[in-house]
Amino acid sequence: MDKVVKKITKGLTGTIIIPPDKSISHRSIMFSSLAKGRSLINNFSNGADCLSTMKLFQDLGVEITQINEHSLEIFSTGHLSVPNTPLNCGNSGTTMRLCSGILAGQGFNSTLYGDESLSKRPMKRVILPLEQMGAKINSNEYKAPLEITGCPLHGIDYKSPIASAQVKSCILLAGLNAEGITTITEPYKSRNHTEIMLQYMGVPIEENDCTVKIQKSELEPKVINIAGDISSAAYFIVAALIIPNSDLIIKNVGLNPTRTGIIDIVKRMGGFIEILDERISSGEKIGDIRVKYSDLQGCNIKGDDIPRLIDELPVIALMATQATGTTVISDAQDLRKKESDRISTVTNGLNSIGAEIEEQNDGFIINGKTNLIGGKELDVFHDHRLAMTYYVAGLLCDNEILIKEFEWVKISFPEFEKIFDSIK
Ligand code: S3P
Repeated sequence: MDKVVKKITKGLTGTIIIPPDKSISHRSIMFSSLAKGRSLINNFSNGADCLSTMKLFQDLGVEITQINEHSLEIFSTGHLSVPNTPLNCGNSGTTMRLCSGILAGQGFNSTLYGDESLSKRPMKRVILPLEQMGAKINSNEYKAPLEITGCPLHGIDYKSPIASAQVKSCILLAGLNAEGITTITEPYKSRNHTEIMLQYMGVPIEENDCTVKIQKSELEPKVINIAGDISSAAYFIVAALIIPNSDLIIKNVGLNPTRTGIIDIVKRMGGFIEILDERISSGEKIGDIRVKYSDLQGCNIKGDDIPRLIDELPVIALMATQATGTTVISDAQDLRKKESDRISTVTNGLNSIGAEIEEQNDGFIINGKTNLIGGKELDVFHDHRLAMTYYVAGLLCDNEILIKEFEWVKISFPEFEKIFDSIK
């Protein structure tokens, strides 16, 4: 479905509620499926990625019932059953990487596969450490499909070369079912939703800066209330900052410090952003955000900033085109391994509508403030975050743009356009 987006003539104003966090939703299904008994999940994401995880655990014999649009009841024996079909992860790297850790130590064999985009993404980052733990995985040159021969695992002390919550979570989940202690250390701390939710479900975990330790444990079923997704809120935060006369309140946003890099960057750029009513929900920090149109200044984004805002970088690059001066984003080479090569797709897409971005091996150099001219057709390369970034850009372009295959937004945020329409 092509989407034409036109410049808006007034600011974005009002109050919105941001939909459920994708990372936490995936984990709520996975971990509740491993816990013996009845779990209840409130505010579950109905993005296609999380629905892939739900279907996958149903194929593993877990009883999952949708109680209403965003609530699920899960009943599990605490054991997964032999699947009688290969397991489809769709477009979701989180599903494939975390499930490989869960499935490697089971007493049965399984196969994980995905769509065209996921089949191109690197799985070596999880296959190598899992093999060190004793796993047996056949792959297509370290890419999907992954044929997993279930076998007993043992703990390892793994130093990950990259800061990746998917790699860390994969190893921790394998460690939950391995003999001995499993330790993982990463160069910078990545999102810690796995650690928080496992602790909430009674698993003893030691978290010390960039190192996490786990051992064989049982999980207790729980009521899990999922926070709103700061990665989805990012499109509204940036839109309000760059569209004149905007003043928005965004409610119920997850504010886990491993995810709030975008808030720090907005402050670093001189933007108006305020946190209201901070609270805790199922172990996670949440709150409301107020954001207003601001004069922004370019800044540097690098090192330990990166894992705290990795998924927001496409829309942060757009924000930087509207900041005075130069923004340099570095240490983000992993952006090339996401749903698309986001360093190249973002540079080409935004430059085609008037931005001045220089592609770097590990990021971007962005010169602002540029007038976005628009008047182009943009491809999204099966990448939901490109589709949403271009939509926000289109609200500012002098001439309308056409976003091809806009339906990819459904991967994480089916309500995206409806919420934008409510504040235009
Ligand atoms: C995710 C971790 C991140 C992020 C992805 C979701 C997760 O990937 O890009 O969208 O839920 O653990 P990496 O940890 O591989 O950077």
